[in-house]
Amino acid sequence: MRLLVTGGAGFIGSEFVRMTLREHPEDQVTVLDKLTYAGNERNLDPVRGDARFRFVQGDIADPAAVGPLARGCDTIVNFAAESHVDRSLEAPGQFIITDVYGTYVLLEAARAAGHPRYLQVSTDEVYGDVATGRSREGDPLRPRSPYSASKAGGEMLVQAYRASHGLPAIITRGSNTYGWYQYPEKIIPLFITNALEDRPLPIYGDGGAVRDYIFVEDHCRGIDLALRRGVPGEDYNIGAGREINGITVADTVLRLLDKPPSLKQYVSDRPGHDRRYALDSTKLRTLGWEPRIDVEKGMEMTVRWYVEHEEWWRPLKSGEFWAFYQRNYRTVTPLPGSGAG
Ligand code: NAD
Ligand code: TYD
Repeated sequence: MRLLVTGGAGFIGSEFVRMTLREHPEDQVTVLDKLTYAGNERNLDPVRGDARFRFVQGDIADPAAVGPLARGCDTIVNFAAESHVDRSLEAPGQFIITDVYGTYVLLEAARAAGHPRYLQVSTDEVYGDVATGRSREGDPLRPRSPYSASKAGGEMLVQAYRASHGLPAIITRGSNTYGWYQYPEKIIPLFITNALEDRPLPIYGDGGAVRDYIFVEDHCRGIDLALRRGVPGEDYNIGAGREINGITVADTVLRLLDKPPSLKQYVSDRPGHDRRYALDSTKLRTLGWEPRIDVEKGMEMTVRWYVEHEEWWRPLKSGEFWAFYQRNYRTVTPLPGSGAG
């Protein structure tokens, strides 16, 4: 395959690129990434010297950047997105531009390039709050945050291009993903790095909201399988089926780092906070996928990675990171000397 991987300098995209080049020796990978605050070229250092790999800095919403790259590949995997719910609550505009309009630009480029295989990386958040049971692929999409609405908008366009233009597109809906190289704004890397710095761990509301966590390698193996063995036109859920709430995430991080429970700090809830996501991944399992890393092992590996890679995350927790943090966590008291005040 000659793959165009958009958003390949981010958390999950870079794992997918490293995995593809490792496990598919015939494949070539071009990454197109805008390098937003969440994109990090260093995530691709392990593949930098590989002759099958190329990096292009550019925007998926820019047809001039996307067109030639789409013509030069036979497969497009779209990871590029604004991805953080809290940021979408404050400033949704860029979410619409990248996650909806950017998807449209990619789809048009795919159409003009003669219909390469296309995979849209989406999220379980498009199903909205799931009080009971587990979401299946045919369930209605009921997004409730600007982030999940923009992801659902991107999906709707993919569905339209499948139906109207016969684009052989697959959509995957992954659950909350964690592991190495994750920008420290999502709960798990935020709590690990805050704990390492002896800062409070801000738990929203009562800490009872549940997510279905999956290790990043398992998520990427699911995308890889859906891409290679999935049926064009179909959607596939990718979730490990382990439901964990915010308090348990905090307790696990503190236990693994031998830090005191007093670092837990309850803060005002996220507006519109979805109480629960849970996926039924039977459809992908019937293709032969199953998660390999249970959450205990995955959390241990993730914590160890952040302990051993301070040079990766420390520079990210500066400047704009703290400006957003201060606005988002108004009820958190900065620790003296934290640099957050
Ligand atoms: P991330 O924020 O770490 O990375 C996003 C990447 O996209 C960054 O490298 C960024 O520079 C790039 N990007 C953003 N806007 C762009 C644009 N306009 N043009 C080109 N590149 C652009 O996100 P992630 O956690 O790696 O998520 C990747 C994908 O997986 C997203 O589509 C996200 O919605 C989806 N997803 C994430 C999770 C999760 O828990 N993190 C779960 C399910 C699905
Ligand atoms: P997050 O990692 O932002 O992922 P998403 O909102 O896309 O599911 O949040 C995961 C869960 O953790 C969610 O229930 C909100 C909660 N959370 C906190 O309690 N504190 C935090 O600082 C963050 C970022 C999230």
